[in-house]
Amino acid sequence: MTTGPDARHERERQFHNEVFAAGGRQTVHKYYTATAPAQERFRSLAAKGAAEATVLEYGCGQGSAAFALAPRAARLTGVDLSDVAIAQAKQRAKEQDLPNTAFLVMNAEALAFPADSFDLVVGIAILHHLDLRKAYGELARVLRPSGRAVFLEPLGHNPLINWYRDRTPGLRTPDERPLRMDDIRLASAYFRRVHASYFTLLSLAAVPFRNLPGFSVLARLLHGADQALFTLVPPLRRHAWITVLELDAPLAPAVE
Ligand SMILES: C[S@@+](CC[C@H](N)C(=O)[O-])C[C@H]1O[C@@H](n2cnc3c(N)ncnc32)[C@H](O)[C@@H]1O
Repeated sequence: MTTGPDARHERERQFHNEVFAAGGRQTVHKYYTATAPAQERFRSLAAKGAAEATVLEYGCGQGSAAFALAPRAARLTGVDLSDVAIAQAKQRAKEQDLPNTAFLVMNAEALAFPADSFDLVVGIAILHHLDLRKAYGELARVLRPSGRAVFLEPLGHNPLINWYRDRTPGLRTPDERPLRMDDIRLASAYFRRVHASYFTLLSLAAVPFRNLPGFSVLARLLHGADQALFTLVPPLRRHAWITVLELDAPLAPAVE
């Protein structure tokens, strides 16, 4: 495999162009039924920050968060390396008549925006595709001093989930790496406040029952059990499948 950032970006672009040309991101839908509480948390934080704000969707794909936020935002910009996904997002924005949106092919590790451009950055499953030092640095640079970023990302510590990942390599790019606790800690070098919430451990056990009546009650009970467990036994948080990350108040870059 060729190494270096350009080769990595080209692999990411090609992989995602193929995925989006085939109709969209391949998720194993049955497992994603277990992520509803994480998605709700992400959506509510993003919606709260988007009102009248200048918003960036980072690694937007076809506009995974953009279209829910655009009607609330003053302006919404989406960026992604995949030209196929960006063309699809532009087409959808045209069909929905959303003149306050722009979708641009751009490398998230080297954004073409001036400093202090955005009030809010949101992203779904993007940070774990990036060089995090570059990504956090760019996020801190383009956010206004009172700005915040909200991300929904997979975590990479749970042995059972990693076992499944090892057996389904075609669903992922060779370079992506689900976040580890050190990756979350690293954000503190770039943001004054870093808060992570954790989701989906026992709730994965609800997946086999997803088509039965009572599934939503079972899923809610297991979600409650997960939250109790993460509060009572903090070391278990690393074994969650999903984290929702809030990064507030970017720090000025250190002078070299
Ligand atoms: C797992 S997909 C998530 C896309 C979208 N947020 C969603 O939820 O459908 C990861 C996305 O990251 C994009 N990506 C990977 N590396 C990137 C980079 N360096 N700059 C911008 N986008 C990148 C890919 O093209 C892809 O659209």
